Amino acid sequence: MDLGLANDTALVTASSSGLGRACARALANEGANVVCNGRDRDRLDAAVEALEGTPGTVRGVAADLTDPDAIDALVSETVDTFGGLDHLVTNVAGPSTARALDIDDGTWQATYDLLFMSALRSIRTAAPALTEGGGSIVMMTSRTTREIIEEYALSNVFRLALVGLNKTLAKELAPEVRVNAVAPGPFETGRIGTLVAESVESGRFESREAAYEAWAGDVPLGRPGEPSELGDLVAYLASERASYVTGATVPIDGGVTDAPL
Ligand SMILES: NC(=O)c1ccc[n+]([C@@H]2O[C@H](COP(=O)([O-])OP(=O)(O)OC[C@H]3O[C@@H](n4cnc5c(N)ncnc54)[C@H](OP(=O)(O)O)[C@@H]3O)[C@@H](O)[C@H]2O)c1
Repeated sequence: MDLGLANDTALVTASSSGLGRACARALANEGANVVCNGRDRDRLDAAVEALEGTPGTVRGVAADLTDPDAIDALVSETVDTFGGLDHLVTNVAGPSTARALDIDDGTWQATYDLLFMSALRSIRTAAPALTEGGGSIVMMTSRTTREIIEEYALSNVFRLALVGLNKTLAKELAPEVRVNAVAPGPFETGRIGTLVAESVESGRFESREAAYEAWAGDVPLGRPGEPSELGDLVAYLASERASYVTGATVPIDGGVTDAPL
């Protein structure tokens, strides 16, 4: 299926590794011009190099998404480089794990800035360019939008805020811009090693094997997801092939989430 993304311009935040990079790859494979982003210049350069050979033109712009000025500069550089912006994918690092009442105020505040404000600020800055020619936004969330996961209090709370933002913006930016979200279950990325280590350190699991089994052992499809599978969904939602889809939060989780809706 031709998604019709060739020569469009996409900005994928936090895309020097993991799910973000898979989104960048899927868009570049469709021939889109893609700006990748991350904080670390070397990791970013490596990601851009890894995407050489795709039909799209890929550039890397370093920016810390917790810094509002850096977000403004990231969006401006994208528009200046490619002459406009058609698609924005908002992604950022995931939060640490803990129970709600064990989390201090500073961590709640910092995670609000990281998960929620980074997405809101990116969208607010990009909205004029997206609205100009018609475009799309896809927000990265998590299966925690549909069911609470023990010890994932920060994700349980702030991912739902993103769903509220998604629904609100789908109305506010229609009909020029479609706004959707994806809700991944377990995917093999570098972050998983960190989460597994955290849950062993906190005493929740006795071994890395037990923690890994709890993370992905009960997926009906029998395996964690490949990041490219998520990238393909994001590219579809970004494209005109999804022209009647807006305000949706689409699960991609191998069937692991129990919630019926
Ligand atoms: N993997 C899963 O199973 C899964 C499931 C559900 C939801 N998610 C969510 O999906 C998102 C991506 O997960 P992932 O597994 O792909 O993570 P990852 O492999 O750790 O990738 C994180 C990416 O974000 C960048 N980044 C981190 N902090 C940043 C900041 N402040 N500003 C700019 N870039 C930043 C990193 O580059 P630098 O470090 O160089 O900045 C890297 O490119 C997370 O929010 C995660 O919670 C993941």
